[in-house]
Amino acid sequence: MQAKLTLDTQFHVGEIDPRIFGGFLEHLGRAVYEGVYDPGNPLSDANGYRTDVLAALQKMRMPLMRYPGGNFVSNYDWTDGIGPREQRPRRPEFAWKSVETNAFGTDEFMHWCKAAQTAPMMAVNLGTRGSAEAGALLEYCNLPTGTYWADRRAQNGHPEPYAVKTWCLGNEMDGPWQAGHVPAEEYAMRADQAAKLMRGLDDSIELVACGSSARGLATYLSYDRITLEYCWDSVHYVSAHRYSNNHRGDSAWFLAEGVEIERIIEDYAGLFDYVRGLKRSEKRVYLSFDEWNVWYKNTHGNGKWKEAPALCEEVYNLEDALVVAQYLNAFIRRADVVKIACIAQIVNVIAPLLTRREGLLVQSTYYPFQLMAEHTRGKSLRTQLESPLYMAGDRGETPVLDVSASLAQDGALAVFVVNRSQTDAVTLDIHLTDVRASAVLGLDILCGDDPKAANSWETPDLLTPKPALATLTDSGGITLTLPPLAFAALRAQTQLR
Ligand code: AHR
Repeated sequence: MQAKLTLDTQFHVGEIDPRIFGGFLEHLGRAVYEGVYDPGNPLSDANGYRTDVLAALQKMRMPLMRYPGGNFVSNYDWTDGIGPREQRPRRPEFAWKSVETNAFGTDEFMHWCKAAQTAPMMAVNLGTRGSAEAGALLEYCNLPTGTYWADRRAQNGHPEPYAVKTWCLGNEMDGPWQAGHVPAEEYAMRADQAAKLMRGLDDSIELVACGSSARGLATYLSYDRITLEYCWDSVHYVSAHRYSNNHRGDSAWFLAEGVEIERIIEDYAGLFDYVRGLKRSEKRVYLSFDEWNVWYKNTHGNGKWKEAPALCEEVYNLEDALVVAQYLNAFIRRADVVKIACIAQIVNVIAPLLTRREGLLVQSTYYPFQLMAEHTRGKSLRTQLESPLYMAGDRGETPVLDVSASLAQDGALAVFVVNRSQTDAVTLDIHLTDVRASAVLGLDILCGDDPKAANSWETPDLLTPKPALATLTDSGGITLTLPPLAFAALRAQTQLR
């Protein structure tokens, strides 16, 4: 099969926000405990942080880390997690039916973020708590000493404010499963009140309002619209969540997920334009896609009142990795709409990394994320793609390839391609109209014959990207061949013609 991609550096959708490569750490299962924090383990440092997890995360270059939930946050009292450890209460945790020891809390998270080379994105509880508690947490994190909560931070050993910039106003408040779930009209008021109080204390912060947890919910987009119409002036982002599944066991259909992901982003672009018009506003609101991933094989979420139970420990295969790449391709292509995105989650719980006491397993989904986070720089180029089509079940005819491209100021080009075909290799000719490729800097391909193949503790390197060759064409373009079921990360140097 043949395909053609035409790129012109003058045709772009603007700068890509590196925060689309964000992560998410929730007090859920073995994510915090045993995942990032495992005191006494020989693999942990003096703070109890798993050093193998830190090293793997650093390579993922996540500029932002959402915390502490998720559903967890909607019944969380953040004051439980500060101060001397031995005085912190053990609590029954509503969302995941587990015991929360509170051994890891806000101060530990801030400290761990430094070690992981990331920045905190904090969520406040707008389920069972409200604007006063949110304001107190902001005071604890961001205000200089001299007032009650800021002084408590100093007493806990942290005189300098943490300067947390990005804050989520609750989590999935549209979801009936959420502690304190309310209709949009009620949530909008809660969010607006919290926003006004929080920005009244620190007007440098940016706020994310809850939007829709899933496209399948009856309130999809209307929850967002009602919230945004009420909170337009107080918030900067609306949050969208999506978890992809292949419940039907139809890989052709599943591999077309990128089409659906892009449609969601388009829905939000339309919504933002609509409310902006309604308000006759100059302001722009952007999308924070702050939970996304594949999740359907292990949805076991009842911890039976244990500490750090093994919950939602999804095993990822090749087709999942190709869907993960399509999420990131869509975020890059719509860099004009998506400014923040957080893979849910980072370790043990629906995560690219799995731990056991004596080691770390890197799953298939790690690799496209790592390669794309490493090589995406600068502007998102418009992709003019001529691709063969295939039948993706009831999703209909779908391009065999899914692509995105970025161009840095120094001329470094990155092109990311997924070949959805399970049977056919595709040769892709990349035509560059106003620049020419002077060198191929690298090409890595993750691929395999079996969409269900997965890394395991016994075969940890079954799926890893391998270097491959791409060739420069006489006309200044690049040609590469993708095997079936493949993700490719191509880097090239370009020069003006
Ligand atoms: O990421 C797991 C859970 O999925 C989160 O707690 C919640 O926000 C979502 O429903």
